[in-house]
Amino acid sequence: MDDEKNLPKLYRELADWWPVLSAPADYAEEANFYRQAIVDLCPFSPRTMLELGSGGGNNASHLKQHFKLTLVDLAPGMLAVSQKLNPEVEHLQGDMRTVRLGRTFDAVFIHDAIEYMTTEEDLRRAIETAYLHCRPGGVALFAPDAVRETFKPATSHGGHDGDVRALRYLEWTWDPDPADTHYIFTMVYMLREEGQETQAILDEHHCGLYGHEDWLRIIDQVGFEAHWRPFEHSELPESSTNIYLGFKPGFKN
Ligand SMILES: C[S@@+](CC[C@H](N)C(=O)[O-])C[C@H]1O[C@@H](n2cnc3c(N)ncnc32)[C@H](O)[C@@H]1O
Repeated sequence: MDDEKNLPKLYRELADWWPVLSAPADYAEEANFYRQAIVDLCPFSPRTMLELGSGGGNNASHLKQHFKLTLVDLAPGMLAVSQKLNPEVEHLQGDMRTVRLGRTFDAVFIHDAIEYMTTEEDLRRAIETAYLHCRPGGVALFAPDAVRETFKPATSHGGHDGDVRALRYLEWTWDPDPADTHYIFTMVYMLREEGQETQAILDEHHCGLYGHEDWLRIIDQVGFEAHWRPFEHSELPESSTNIYLGFKPGFKN
């Protein structure tokens, strides 16, 4: 993504439909898993967290109970949605590859927004941003939807009913060329608003796909000590993806 104009429609002109696409309650279990993984690796009790690519703020709505959060996203429309859900939290616009806030945090978190790093160079820049914003002894956590070894083409659907709006989507994940670091998920959104005709919109999300050893190598190369864990979630089969963690050396008690 070069700038916000290249983001999928979902994060631009459709951003205010996000709350009927994805519900905060659905994130409670995974937010707890990520928090625990950070706490397990951190030599002190982490209090501050920077989330890069925080989107609609669904994870943040759970994490804010444990951390003082700063949320950064490239899309102003998504920041506005998150601000409504998390009005007490600091929100800033920025690109995870280039943003420099000039301060450090006990933890840095990049959830599924890391998917939009379609080249290894972009992935490295995002992980470097995490490194520069992490204090010594702090932990960065990266949660890709897929790794090369476990990627499978898939179809799924979802959506929710709001008070005056409802949305259903069909999502089709596929990999045009298994030899490169790129896959696509194509989405069709069906949007219904009181008093108006239902409309359907097609949106293509271009995403990055990296092997397990690539993740560990890049995290290590930017200066972190690399760790990983299989992602555990009651609604997903075992070993569907991994989470990757970077421990920043140099902590003095
Ligand atoms: C699926 S949403 C994230 C939802 C989030 N995990 C949550 O808990 O609500 C993905 C987000 O990544 C953001 N994004 C994509 N590329 C980005 C970049 N280079 N820097 C910052 N944010 C980016 C998009 O604007 C979008 O809001």
